[in-house]
Amino acid sequence: MWMGNEGGNLPLYICLCNALTDRKVKQAVTEAGTLRPGEVYAACGCRAQCGQCVKAVVALVRDHVRNQGEAQLQGAD
Ligand code: FES
Repeated sequence: MWMGNEGGNLPLYICLCNALTDRKVKQAVTEAGTLRPGEVYAACGCRAQCGQCVKAVVALVRDHVRNQGEAQLQGAD
């Protein structure tokens, strides 16, 4: 589970090699409609370098998609 910055006002750096923030990753997932880590990095204009962030990116993507789905379900009421 992503234990990130939900509700926080400050961006959280999730990938230091590429200076990717949680917001940038979520934006890439939403706009590019991609879920695979390699495609997320590509949508952000980069690629994994050291790989230390990949697990966190995967967890963030999963939580973001789950949250989007829950928001859509709540909006359907
Ligand atoms: S921290 Fe993301 S590739 Fe190194």
